[in-house]
Amino acid sequence: MVVLKREDYISIEKNPNGVCTIWMDQKDEKINKIGPDLIGLFESVFEELNADDSIKAFVLSSKKKDFIAGADIDAFAKVEKPGDWKPIARKGHEILNQIEKSKKPIVAAIHGNALGAGLEIAMACHARVLSNDKSTKVALPEVKLGLLPGGGGTQRLPRLVGLQAALDMMLTGKNVFAYPALKMGLADKVVHVSALQKVAQKFALELVDNPIKRERNELDIKAGFPSIQKSLTNIVLEAPLVNKIVFDQAKKMVDKQAHGNYPAPYKIMECVEIGWNQGIEKGYEAEVDRFEELILSPVSRQLINIFFAMTDKKKNPYGEDKVKQVDRLGMIGAGFMGAGIAEVSMNDGMHVLLKDINQDMISSAYKTIYDGYNKRVSKKAMSKIELEEKMALLSGSLNYEDLDNQEIIIEAVFEDLKLKQAILKDVEANAKPNTIFATNTSALPIKHIAANAKHPELVIGMHYFSPVPKMPLLEIVKTDKTADWVIATCYDVGVRQGKTVIVVHDGPGFYTTRILAPLMNEAQLLLDEGGDIQQIDREMNLFGFPVGPITLADEVGIDVGAHIMSGELMQELLSTRPKFKVSKTLLEISKAGYKGRKNKKGFYKYDEKGKKVSGQVDADIYSFYGGNTRKKFDANDIHMRCAMAMVNEAALCLQENIIESPLDGDIGAVFGLGFPPFRGGPFRYIDSVGAQKVVDILNDLTARFGERFEPAQILLDYAKSGKKFSDK
Ligand SMILES: NC(=O)c1ccc[n+]([C@@H]2O[C@H](COP(=O)([O-])OP(=O)(O)OC[C@H]3O[C@@H](n4cnc5c(N)ncnc54)[C@H](O)[C@@H]3O)[C@@H](O)[C@H]2O)c1
Repeated sequence: MVVLKREDYISIEKNPNGVCTIWMDQKDEKINKIGPDLIGLFESVFEELNADDSIKAFVLSSKKKDFIAGADIDAFAKVEKPGDWKPIARKGHEILNQIEKSKKPIVAAIHGNALGAGLEIAMACHARVLSNDKSTKVALPEVKLGLLPGGGGTQRLPRLVGLQAALDMMLTGKNVFAYPALKMGLADKVVHVSALQKVAQKFALELVDNPIKRERNELDIKAGFPSIQKSLTNIVLEAPLVNKIVFDQAKKMVDKQAHGNYPAPYKIMECVEIGWNQGIEKGYEAEVDRFEELILSPVSRQLINIFFAMTDKKKNPYGEDKVKQVDRLGMIGAGFMGAGIAEVSMNDGMHVLLKDINQDMISSAYKTIYDGYNKRVSKKAMSKIELEEKMALLSGSLNYEDLDNQEIIIEAVFEDLKLKQAILKDVEANAKPNTIFATNTSALPIKHIAANAKHPELVIGMHYFSPVPKMPLLEIVKTDKTADWVIATCYDVGVRQGKTVIVVHDGPGFYTTRILAPLMNEAQLLLDEGGDIQQIDREMNLFGFPVGPITLADEVGIDVGAHIMSGELMQELLSTRPKFKVSKTLLEISKAGYKGRKNKKGFYKYDEKGKKVSGQVDADIYSFYGGNTRKKFDANDIHMRCAMAMVNEAALCLQENIIESPLDGDIGAVFGLGFPPFRGGPFRYIDSVGAQKVVDILNDLTARFGERFEPAQILLDYAKSGKKFSDK
């Protein structure tokens, strides 16, 4: 164990009222992170201060913007074999138990994030006071890294807030703001940040004579899964039976979402169940064992890799010095994408002017954005005043003349090359010099849009994903002519909009649309060959894609899919790939009026409100695919045909320098297209399967289904050399 200098991490302030504040203040770091060594430091601090008779109670707080942002994930990466983690975990439990059992009350005063290990420490304290600031959030997000809360979280949380609410928090990893935390019993008081220390000290002193007696929260069916709530609210049952139902429901929910691909949620439930039924000590032991199992599992390794990559991507590779400050953004096209891009820009304080040809679209975008913010107000994540401030950043116009003082203009009009070229011309005529023109085209090569541009160095692609406020990726597309400062500035805008950004080279479909197209096409070919809509979707869910390819076609729009498959992207790709077989049926059904969810006419049935009718297929659509008699394909064939079509295309993109690194390829596929995160992205997937094995699979698919599966040269090279894409 490394011996840490206390003053580099902690400062002690003894107040005249007898309360000692222990400030966490990690030197040279923006945030406080908890690692095994730091936990050890706590032990000596508490031991020493407990012996000081002038101290009656403690407040644990932070001098940083966060309380504790979580565990030090670098420490996890050092765990290499069984036995590496268990002693560390046991020591952690011991020290948190020491905090919990302290005779002098300890109150956690929390402003900013208390995440993962941060919340676990706070839960070991005797009480928690939270600031009501919107930056204050508590969560146990370990599941997102394929892990479980390993510092007693699986035991303390259910006892504080009840089984349902605890499982809900741990299985989703979701953030909980201050007032909901108060309501569920995770916070004891919520106050304005200016009163936080004073209230926490007063509370700590009160607890000296009046400790809080916390009963194990047996029967809490107020919070948690609404479905469970519905089925239980009107019946009175024995607590053990209710608990069993709660566990069963949670397992069902996890099965539905994880399809057995993610072990962490199951291990979390096991720890909770063991601790709940057999006592907390057994629960702690279960946590220690299972945490180590998870941390050594390939799934958690892949998820942690993705986390590191995402953190790395926050740094601008084109240089902060090249970034031009953007305060004003013009948005041409106030449709579905335009409204979303406007909202995420306003989140970071940019002024947005929405320009459309249709006033109704502008009004509707206003409403969409207002409703989005209002939802946050109702969750108390934003105040009414902040909502008004945000909305004041937005204006609308039908005239190009108003686009004369923006630093960047993004267009998101219909996917039509001539229209986009005309818009670029109008922008060049009206915008101030050096205004960046970014296009949100899904697939049109940027160089074609910029073909007649006076300033092609200012033209760039900014490809967002729908729904923009939720989807984490921004794919920036540069041409040979795009200026570096333009790329740097767009990168900065993307990061400010909360996106993980990759920069790719121009080409038909860039990276993401290009690798999605062969997968979607393969699903169509399977249907052409007599496949079953639900089986194809289900199998791709089981493989790990959150949305199956047929459902995705309905969601994105069959017309959009058909447009892409029959348009410029495919034509240009096919000119270099004569062996590629394209299904024509999507175009046919699109011509017959099928658009998917948006016109309630797609592969699946929709009710009047556009909601899926419990997964029912619109059987009429089969007439385009050879009739109603469908056959079931071998599950592995579906997985491999669809997934390998995408993986091989990703390899071609690397070979052709569309993406600059395998890492960008993995991030783009995972964050933009839902490539199974536990597989790490196409390139980490190839590494884990082995390049030679991937080549063998592709050769087998080529022999059985056609030459479109011929392996990319780069795969053959990697197979031959035994190199891995993740090798540095
Ligand atoms: N919808 C998606 O999932 C998605 C994802 C990524 C990229 N895109 C791309 O984004 C673009 C927009 O897609 P969308 O789904 O938001 O479309 P949409 O139909 O919802 O919105 C298009 C908007 O452009 C406006 N418009 C049309 N001509 C205009 C003009 N001359 N000047 C100003 N406004 C004009 C329309 O009135 C409409 O409000 C397309 O290029 C699309 O390929 C869409």
